[in-house]
Amino acid sequence: MTGIIHLENIRKSYYLGKQELPVLKGINIDIFKNEYVALMGPSGSGKSTLMNILGCLDSPTAGSYILNGKDVSGMPDNDLAEVRNKEIGFVFQQFNLLPRLTAAENVALPLIYSGIGKKERTERALEVLNRVKLDDRSQHKPNELSGGQCQGWLLHGL
Ligand SMILES: Nc1ncnc2c1ncn2[C@@H]1O[C@H](COP(=O)(O)OP(=O)(O)OP(=O)(O)O)[C@@H](O)[C@H]1O
Ligand SMILES: [Mg+2]
Repeated sequence: MTGIIHLENIRKSYYLGKQELPVLKGINIDIFKNEYVALMGPSGSGKSTLMNILGCLDSPTAGSYILNGKDVSGMPDNDLAEVRNKEIGFVFQQFNLLPRLTAAENVALPLIYSGIGKKERTERALEVLNRVKLDDRSQHKPNELSGGQCQGWLLHGL
């Protein structure tokens, strides 16, 4: 049985000019539904590099990545963006919120790319903010929220 995340012999190198810097040298992983996995290793060992691939933010140099039955390893950026929108929830260390949008608008943003209308987007965003007890902060911008509040709504997602 293969996992919902299935990596086979994944390699990733960065190129500095012509010089190759191999970082991932043949990673094989299966992660199954409802599994919690922590990725640990020393600084510079390639955790962020691997997370960027798992999150479809970057493509591997070689190997195959089957996500939920779909081969995403060689996909062009536009298709990867769609996969990210549909399949991936990502909590970034630095939140990556848009500073000029309110909490409600930030939460609703991914739904625009899913083609959901404005009324439903707003309703669903407020519902999620309510769930994490941030409904009274819905009109605040990210810099008017605490670090934990910035993270809270992302963790719940839509
Ligand atoms: N864009 C890049 N171009 C070239 N080299 C890079 C790039 N990003 C990372 N590296 C190099 O790849 C290696 C792995 O980096 P990565 O960021 O994946 O490590 P990490 O395990 O997340 O480390 P940390 O625990 O410090 O966050 C490091 O040697 C780093 O210098
Ligand atoms: Mg890192």
